[in-house]
Amino acid sequence: MGFFSFLLKPEPKAEIPPLLVDMHSHFLPAIDDGAENIHETLKLLKSFEDRGYKKIITTPHIIQDLYENTPDTIFPVLEKVRAALIESGSSLQIEAAAEYFLDDRFIEMLDADQQFLTLKDNLILVETGFLNEPAYLRDVLFKLRLKGYKPVLAHPERYVYLQTKKEKLEELFYSGVLLQINTMSLGGYYGPPALKLAEWMIENEFVHFLGSDCHRTRHLEPLEKAYKSKAYHKLRELPLLNDSLLD
Ligand SMILES: [Fe+2]
Repeated sequence: MGFFSFLLKPEPKAEIPPLLVDMHSHFLPAIDDGAENIHETLKLLKSFEDRGYKKIITTPHIIQDLYENTPDTIFPVLEKVRAALIESGSSLQIEAAAEYFLDDRFIEMLDADQQFLTLKDNLILVETGFLNEPAYLRDVLFKLRLKGYKPVLAHPERYVYLQTKKEKLEELFYSGVLLQINTMSLGGYYGPPALKLAEWMIENEFVHFLGSDCHRTRHLEPLEKAYKSKAYHKLRELPLLNDSLLD
């Protein structure tokens, strides 16, 4: 190495600015399989604030016979969390919506024209079972759009029925369904097939949102790992819609 060897040194990698809004998590204590109590909630929120997030839209599960949450179970808990956050000196903003499992109860609610909790305006976060595509998936998504909602499909990269049939994902994308990747997928937390599909989605720009889907403090480490991944860096070159939810 001679005098000019310093010229060969790579530029230090520019730090990626943090996302300001996380729109998928389970931070309300003891109402689903997320945070167990307010202490865990505060720990999780502190960690997100330290990462640069300004706003959390947390999304408790609504699943028939399992987590039958309603505005009445969600909003009083949200208020308690807000009070505790303020008391802790935090200036993080927190809102609540929901993650709707597309089951019979959901279809009933949809047919009865019930109001759904949304991330913002008409954006509704939905999920399905991991293994098989529900027979009515396209119908429900279509009906939702007819009623003026814009469905956001949570973690498509984790569904086996999409991992084995990417054309289905393409179809969903072109039919106007918005797609949300889980941050932890990018660090390999859910296994190679989920990472592979996430990478394919990034390559083809089939991504609208990035969500932590963080449930418990045990997810903080895999999240940190994901932030350092190649896939995360690539994804952040795409125009995500997260920060359009800021206010
Ligand atoms: Fe979730």
